[in-house]
Amino acid sequence: MAQAPRKILVTSALPYANGSIHLGHLLEHIQTNIWTRFQKMRGHTCYSVCADDAHGTPVMLKAQELGITPEEMVDRTRAEHHQDLLDFDIDYDNYYVTHSPENKLLSETIYNRLHAAGYISTKIINQLYDPEKGMFLPDRFIKGDCPKCGAEDQNGDSCDVCSATYATTEVLNPRSVVSGATPILKDSEHYFFDLPKFSDMLQTWIKSGTVQAEMANKLQEWFEQGLQQWDISRDPPYFGFEIPNAPGKYFYVWVDAPVGYMASFLNFCEKNNVSFDEYWNADSDAELYHFIGKDITYFHCLFWPAMLEGAGYRKPTGVNIHGFVTVNGAKMSKSKGTFIKARTYLDHLNPEYLRYYFASKLNDSVTDIDLNFEDFTQKVNSDLVGKVVNIASRCASFITKKFDGKLSDNILDPALLNEFSAASDSIAQHFESRQYHHAIREIMALADKANQFIDTQAPWVTIKDPQLQQQTHDVCSMGIHMFRVLSIYLSPVLPDLSLKAQEFLNDSFVWGSAQTTLTGHSINKFKAMLQRVDSDKVAAMVDASKDHLAVTEDASKKVKATKKTEKSAKPSNQSDNDDEIAPMIQFDDFAKVDLRIAKIVSADHVEGADKLLCLQLDIGAETTRQVFAGIKSAYAPEDLAGKLTVMVANLAPRKMRFGMSEGMVLAAGPGGDELYILEPHAGAQPGMRVK
Ligand code: 2FM
Ligand code: ZN
Repeated sequence: MAQAPRKILVTSALPYANGSIHLGHLLEHIQTNIWTRFQKMRGHTCYSVCADDAHGTPVMLKAQELGITPEEMVDRTRAEHHQDLLDFDIDYDNYYVTHSPENKLLSETIYNRLHAAGYISTKIINQLYDPEKGMFLPDRFIKGDCPKCGAEDQNGDSCDVCSATYATTEVLNPRSVVSGATPILKDSEHYFFDLPKFSDMLQTWIKSGTVQAEMANKLQEWFEQGLQQWDISRDPPYFGFEIPNAPGKYFYVWVDAPVGYMASFLNFCEKNNVSFDEYWNADSDAELYHFIGKDITYFHCLFWPAMLEGAGYRKPTGVNIHGFVTVNGAKMSKSKGTFIKARTYLDHLNPEYLRYYFASKLNDSVTDIDLNFEDFTQKVNSDLVGKVVNIASRCASFITKKFDGKLSDNILDPALLNEFSAASDSIAQHFESRQYHHAIREIMALADKANQFIDTQAPWVTIKDPQLQQQTHDVCSMGIHMFRVLSIYLSPVLPDLSLKAQEFLNDSFVWGSAQTTLTGHSINKFKAMLQRVDSDKVAAMVDASKDHLAVTEDASKKVKATKKTEKSAKPSNQSDNDDEIAPMIQFDDFAKVDLRIAKIVSADHVEGADKLLCLQLDIGAETTRQVFAGIKSAYAPEDLAGKLTVMVANLAPRKMRFGMSEGMVLAAGPGGDELYILEPHAGAQPGMRVK
């Protein structure tokens, strides 16, 4: 049944501008893109927008680390992200950035309206401050000893050893990750958004089918605990937008990030003469869907709809929440090579494989999706190459060689072909409800039927019999008709295969094309459409993703028990990027690192430190350098004295609890007793520059 055209706006969570796109992001972007392509094929007006999430402390500090402005870093990362996505055929109608004039304007507008309506208040709060760096420290930039079990070097809000969670102010011997300095407590005025005022509205909104039932139940727990005033301001230095009429106060990144959805769309509307208001006015009849990971539910299901409501805009029609990606049954790991970046994947494998594999597993729940490489290889090879493309390749050459490239005027088995076109509504329903795995299962069941038909008819036998030419023509044409319908259904998932099929069939697909048959139609010569997955390439991709310096995550980072507060909604391992591998650097960046051959004059235990040795290093200067190195688990002090190694000589000195650390020695390995300091070949002398 044809539906009236809908107006739909779709978004994916905005990737942070300080790390690369990886498999975790790709699950979501692929999920969104399949849905968008499906809606477009159905003839609806469906726009999808995304952007880079530019603001916040991690972005600011990363840019400082690279010695560039945040704007410059954001520009570069945005371009990299956009290209990665395009190479996966993820084609947003607009891929913008939150550091934009449109976003500034919209964020200010929303804030001003919230302020005018009385939803903003201020309060002095007391927070940890890095006196050396001159900045307030977000939790993740504080380390110290666990107040519960005393374990050293734990996070500012939780302990990996005993799983305790605590306030940053409770941490013992706290230090700033940024400078190594001991933080002090300092007062500052903060701006707060009155979230509790929206409690009833939010509860009704959540229960009205906007989020999956399992998440609606989870959100209920938050209401039971009572919503809190939301701290929306940050003090400088901060990369972000200044709050109107609040000099020296900046919007917390999570304020302007979701507004970035609107801003990216506004930028698109201005360039394409589309009405922004039709999609965002309070009485809009357009649909708005956000695709997000479960870790950022809190922001999208509480703060964001409350901000929209308070500022007089429409609220989302749906927030579609998915789970995380695991690889071979475990959390993505840099040391195992399963923390795979989009670009590394693209260097080795066809993006359609991943699109298909994720589609075959995606459903509307928030359970994690496992990418198992054996299953991946087997499924793509058997389903796509062995079943779908095989149908065309078995029939096409006879049509081209024996029947002048033209399909028969007859439909040999109308009932069978009808089964294919009749599946349209049910498959569409699966795509619509994000039950892609059901859609794929149904499509593959049809592919099996098509192959059985061809097996039974054996055109490669009948072609040899001059009496059976018409039958052979009819059989091969049936095969092509069935292949065509399958390609139509797979188009949202496999845009590249779809384009090749359209070229081969001299056709152009919309969803309704499955109801027509190309009898008597000329087709083109069949060209290979998809190669088999080569498991050597999968292995090479994993190898290329291995970070031999990464500490084994399983050993060092236990799953954290999270409090059901704003903290539990923080971007987690999937979208968090504080342990990302640094982006590509230029030679000039590398040249800034002064690596020197250093002779270890002495190595000593450090009173009260489990992991550290204190090294005195001779780098040919008048005085030795003192460096605290976390290599105690692998070396006894007496094994090190007299050895040559490599040190970073121009690392800013860090004040540690035990004294100043004036550089860093280089070591490789997963950690524990598997840690190896770098040693030069014989002949190298202390002080020589490493280049
Ligand atoms: O968690 C993240 O990766 C955030 N950058 C997502 C932002 S989504 C939206 F609200 F902007
Ligand atoms: Zn502890």
